[in-house]
Amino acid sequence: MSLDLIRQVAPAVSSAIIDVGGGASTLVDGLIASGYTDITVLDLSTVALEQARQRLGAAESRVTWLAADALTADFPRGGFDVWHDRAVFHFLTSAEDRARYVEQARHAVHVGGHVLVATFAHDGLTRCSGLNVARYTADALHHEFGAGFRLLESVREEHTTPTGARQAFVYCLCRREALATHSAA
Ligand SMILES: C[S@@+](CC[C@H](N)C(=O)[O-])C[C@H]1O[C@@H](n2cnc3c(N)ncnc32)[C@H](O)[C@@H]1O
Repeated sequence: MSLDLIRQVAPAVSSAIIDVGGGASTLVDGLIASGYTDITVLDLSTVALEQARQRLGAAESRVTWLAADALTADFPRGGFDVWHDRAVFHFLTSAEDRARYVEQARHAVHVGGHVLVATFAHDGLTRCSGLNVARYTADALHHEFGAGFRLLESVREEHTTPTGARQAFVYCLCRREALATHSAA
């Protein structure tokens, strides 16, 4: 799902794509196989990043790996065409952290770029990895991002984990737009 939506909004293989909280996910494998040449994977966990690097072997050198907190990382302004996050935003249970995250995405993605965020759906799990999570409808998730992010598409996915458990996700694909500026003149 993530790969299909990214390909849809970023047809150029030179597009700068960041997988936020990518962990050991195989999305990066799919992006490399699709020909993308400017891929960044960021995660808090060096262990998860190392797993992905080991799995990729020599191809790991085609990726920029960042061990950092998405809330405080020093992203280049407008440095990315696509910001992807599956199963990270829903761990942010404080409004302050969510606002900080949205500010980071607004800073890191240029106007015209895209933000693709997938969280547990409104009827999805209430806890994951021993942590409370926030659950969203597509509208509620889009509302978190607010002005400056136009909702292009939302998709529900029934995901089956490697252990066979079912998890309902909602994906929101938004385009980053310029905020209206008001002049007193
Ligand atoms: C449930 S896993 C999802 C991994 C991957 N995106 C996927 O879909 O398979 C959540 C990941 O987010 C990372 N994470 C959680 N909070 C983060 C933060 N504030 N900044 C960066 N990574 C974070 C965790 O270390 C973990 O690898």
